[in-house]
Amino acid sequence: MAIASRLSAVRSVLGLGKAARSEPRVPLARVPSSIAIIMDGNGRWARAHGLPTGAGHRAGARALKQIVRRAGDLGVRDLTVFSFSTENWNRPKDEVDDLMVLFSEMIDREVPELHAEGVQIRFIGRRDDLGSALRARIDDAESLTAGNGRLRLFIAMNYGGRQEILDAVTALAAQGITAPTDEQFRAALYGPDLADPELVIRTSGEQRLSNFLLWQSAYAELYFAPQMWPDFGADDLEDAIADYAGRERRFGGR
Ligand code: IPE
Ligand code: IPE
Ligand code: MG
Repeated sequence: MAIASRLSAVRSVLGLGKAARSEPRVPLARVPSSIAIIMDGNGRWARAHGLPTGAGHRAGARALKQIVRRAGDLGVRDLTVFSFSTENWNRPKDEVDDLMVLFSEMIDREVPELHAEGVQIRFIGRRDDLGSALRARIDDAESLTAGNGRLRLFIAMNYGGRQEILDAVTALAAQGITAPTDEQFRAALYGPDLADPELVIRTSGEQRLSNFLLWQSAYAELYFAPQMWPDFGADDLEDAIADYAGRERRFGGR
């Protein structure tokens, strides 16, 4: 036993232990450069563990950290995560209030670390309807990390795909553009430079888009994972990417 534990100490010093990351399973060329995730199942996870819903959302926030890190390691360029939909206001007031507090706490706690890791943070959604304190944090996080280029994390907050399309139409009309080109239309979206997701992942076994990235996901590959979001780990992300890497994309051609 003593030898085994000494060996394991040596291995971890050398970076060979459990903590060491194994070689990526998918070659970089097959890793989608833009991935979007519908982080679903926090409520059911909490219920299954006999915990209040808020505990599920907090566990979900912790899960996100591992995913962002692994996505960066794998060479993903744009990662978009669905944090709060325009329809989520229909939840009980207590839950919504708690989520808004959690979002502010998360920004305060995680942004400095993400910044140090070279992550650029962006928000997509109708930010005017968020409280002024949260809005200020969003603006600060975006300006602090604007120069980072390792991974761009787009956080969809108070986001709805239909609302985004309607807002784009309104913005274009204000510019006098009534028959936009594809390029002009994209420029009016919340994240004009966000690359169309090649892979959209939804956890918790639900198989729908729930108003997420409707324009951008036109040709996305969809992947439905059975795990509740708090249980979705970095290796599960690699499973999704490996599945994607084995698919043939045709875009309507032959
Ligand atoms: C996703 O988890 C988080 C948000 C929508 C904010 P849910 O809270 O939707 O979890 P379920 O679907 O109730 O299990
Ligand atoms: C989608 O999940 C929104 C987020 C993950 C933030 P929901 O739980 O709100 O979606 P539905 O109601 O099951 O379609
Ligand atoms: Mg849900």
